[in-house]
Amino acid sequence: MLSTKTNVKKIKLDYQQKIPNQLVTAIIVLDKNLTIQYANPATEALLVKSFNKLYGKPLKNLFLNEPIKQERLTQLLISGQEFSDSDVTLELYINHLITVELMASSVEFDAMPHILLELKQIDQQKNISAEAFQHQQWESARELIRGLAHEIKNPLGGLRGAAQLLSKELSQEQQEYTMMIIEQADRLTNLVDRLLGPNQLPKMTKLNIHSVLEKIYQVVRFGNEKNINFIRDYDPSIPDVVFDDDKLQQALLNIVNNAIQVIETGGQITLKTRAATNQTINGKRIKLCAKICIIDNGPGIPENLKDTLFYPMVSGRANGTGLGLSISQTLIHQHNGKLSCSSEPGHTEFEILLPIIDKATK
Ligand SMILES: Nc1ncnc2c1ncn2[C@@H]1O[C@H](COP(=O)(O)OP(=O)(O)O)[C@@H](O)[C@H]1O
Ligand SMILES: [Mg+2]
Repeated sequence: MLSTKTNVKKIKLDYQQKIPNQLVTAIIVLDKNLTIQYANPATEALLVKSFNKLYGKPLKNLFLNEPIKQERLTQLLISGQEFSDSDVTLELYINHLITVELMASSVEFDAMPHILLELKQIDQQKNISAEAFQHQQWESARELIRGLAHEIKNPLGGLRGAAQLLSKELSQEQQEYTMMIIEQADRLTNLVDRLLGPNQLPKMTKLNIHSVLEKIYQVVRFGNEKNINFIRDYDPSIPDVVFDDDKLQQALLNIVNNAIQVIETGGQITLKTRAATNQTINGKRIKLCAKICIIDNGPGIPENLKDTLFYPMVSGRANGTGLGLSISQTLIHQHNGKLSCSSEPGHTEFEILLPIIDKATK
């Protein structure tokens, strides 16, 4: 039997050895030359390098930028003055940036001063809250427009009815004017209806998403005046998804049509599908999703539209209504899915995630 004292010591040592391996925070220990002496598994995952590759390397060799000033670290070794930074960008390799929260403190090992760095990745968190914010903004813009649309629609009905009654009292010639009122009232009602968005509940059936994509492909290929190269890059192994065939088709067609409108003759549009695991939709973790990407090599979304792209009445075209993407967004939401977009000149990608309901949970 071990004495209680030795037992406690053993337990403590056990934990000390095991805990760093379990932490989600990356821990790095630097010696006085600022070279890496220790890195826990979370560091290996964060920096995508094994401990063997990290050990003995100067910290600054790990990044293309200089996320932590060398002077600050040397100062820490001398004065023991710890510091932290809530927004540090690490450039691991070209165009691969991650944002971390950093804590630097000094520790002593073998009677020598060392530096302990704690790094916690925050960009995933940031993305999620930016997404929630965008969603909220979109919801409130939609509410506002819905309210306004209803206010316009009611008197429009009265206006039309009155014009109809009036036309009975008028000569043939004068009826032209009332006809004009009726026509314009109908045009406005039509616009308002579209502003109010889809108003029928979706008819959900379990289907293969490729059947929808193939229909879209057939439609756009047929009237292909710009001689666009349509590429289908499907993952045939995606399980069936529960969706409303017509609505999903409309949602996707709005996106494809936008791409066709902006693209140059001979451009390229790709319809891509993949299975995607562990996605976040509206703040909820979804185990398995069908991902549909519509990619074009056109000029990209104009900068001034990017933030409000999915709002109704946002258009970059002289004769556009700005309703296409807003309707797509509503339709995808009706499917508990997510529509997002990333765009730069030469590459615009709309991504649709549709949750695949697990048989075991439903
Ligand atoms: N693939 C794309 N590439 C570049 N710009 C796009 C693309 N898709 C949409 N846009 C921009 O977004 C705007 C809004 O699209 P949408 O909501 O469908 O309304 P509309 O087509 O009536 O303008 C378009 O006018 C266009 O400026
Ligand atoms: Mg459009």
